[in-house]
Amino acid sequence: MEKILELKNLKKHYPIYGGVFKKEINSVKALDGVDLDIYRGECLGVVGESGCGKTTTSKAIIKLHDPTSGEIIFHPKDHKDSYDIARMKPRHMKKNGLRSKLQMVFQDPTTSMNPRMLVKNIIAEPIIENTNIKGKALEDRVVELLEMVGLTRNHLYRYSHEFSGGQRQRIAVARALATNPEFLVLDEPTSALDVSVQAQILNLMDSLRKKLNLTYMFVTHHLLVVKYISTRIAVMYLGKIVEIAETEKLFENPVHPYTNALLSGIPSTDLDIEKKRIILKGDVPSPLNPPEGCRFHTRCPFAIELCKKKEPVLEDIGNHKVACHRKDEVQELISKKFA
Ligand SMILES: Nc1ncnc2c1ncn2[C@@H]1O[C@H](COP(=O)(O)OP(=O)(O)OP(=O)(O)O)[C@@H](O)[C@H]1O
Ligand code: SF4
Ligand SMILES: [Mg+2]
Repeated sequence: MEKILELKNLKKHYPIYGGVFKKEINSVKALDGVDLDIYRGECLGVVGESGCGKTTTSKAIIKLHDPTSGEIIFHPKDHKDSYDIARMKPRHMKKNGLRSKLQMVFQDPTTSMNPRMLVKNIIAEPIIENTNIKGKALEDRVVELLEMVGLTRNHLYRYSHEFSGGQRQRIAVARALATNPEFLVLDEPTSALDVSVQAQILNLMDSLRKKLNLTYMFVTHHLLVVKYISTRIAVMYLGKIVEIAETEKLFENPVHPYTNALLSGIPSTDLDIEKKRIILKGDVPSPLNPPEGCRFHTRCPFAIELCKKKEPVLEDIGNHKVACHRKDEVQELISKKFA
C-alpha cells in the first residue's frame, strides 16, 4: 500500500501565559506525540472523546496551524519527492503545487461560506486562486463540480443561505473538490445534520472517494458513522493514538481498554455482536497536565503500578496497533471483571 501522509511524533502544545511578565507557565498538550501513516485511497476514521485532539490533528495536516514539533510527510501523486509540510510556509506549498492537494470540509459549512457570495463564486474562488481558468471554462468547471455533488446549474446564482443544511454541505464539498485535491479532512461533516440527510451526505462522500480515488481522514465522535464510512479507524485519547485497526477488526476485536469502553457504549441492537458494558470512572484529565505513564490509567479498570510509571508505546500486534502494557490480557480481564 502506498502512503500518502506520515505523521511522525507530531506535537501541538498551546502555551499558557501568566504572572506579571506574561511568561509561559504551562501548555495545553493538544497533541502529544502522534504517529500515524495514512494510505492512498483509504478512509481513515479518527474517533475519541471531545478534546482528545482530533481537530488539532486535522488543522495541522491542512496547515491551519503549525505543529510545535514533529513531521508531516506528504507524498503527492506524480511527484518524485516527498515533503515535510509541518513547518512549510503556505507560499512555499503553493509554489510546489501542494497547498491545493490537501483540503478540508468542516462541521458547519456556514462558517466557511460568506453569506453574501453566490454559490458560483464560493466554488470558483479556490479555482481562481490556484489556476488560470477563466470565463466560460470556469463556469463549466463550477457546474461540473455542482453536478458531482448532486446539485445543478440552476443553483449557480443563489446565495448559500437559501439552501438547506445538507445542500450547504454539498456546496462545501464541491468547493473542497474544486482544486482536484488528493486528500480531504472531513471534520464532523455530518454531525450538524438530520439523520436522514447525514446518510445521504455519507453516501455521497463514499462514492466520491471511490470515483475520484481520494483519501479521507474522517473525524467524528459518532462511532456508527465511522463504522459505516471508514476502512480503518484510529482511536485517540488525550492527545495520543491508543489503537489503530481496520474497521471490521476494530469492531470485532477491540484490544485497548479505552476502545472497548467506547464500543461497549453503543447499544447492542446497533452492533452485530454483544458487548459487555464497560463504564469508565471520572472525566478525561486536563491536557494541561496529562497523567504520567499511560495517560488512560486514571480511568482504566485494569491499571497496574507499571501503567502509572511507564508510557506504553503503539505496538504492532498483527491486525492492530495498540498502546497498552496489558494488551495480551485485556479480553480475559474484561470477561472476568464484567461477566
Ligand atoms: N487555540 C487553542 N488554544 C488553547 N487550547 C486549545 C486551542 N485549540 C484547542 N485547544 C485545546 O486542545 C485540546 C484538543 O482540542 P481539539 O479541538 O483538537 O479536540 P477535538 O478532539 O477536536 O474535540 P471535539 O470532539 O470537541 O471537536 C482541547 O483540550 C482544547 O481545549
Ligand atoms: S497501559 Fe495500563 S492503564 Fe493503560 S490502558 Fe493498558 S492496562 Fe490500562
Ligand atoms: Mg473537533
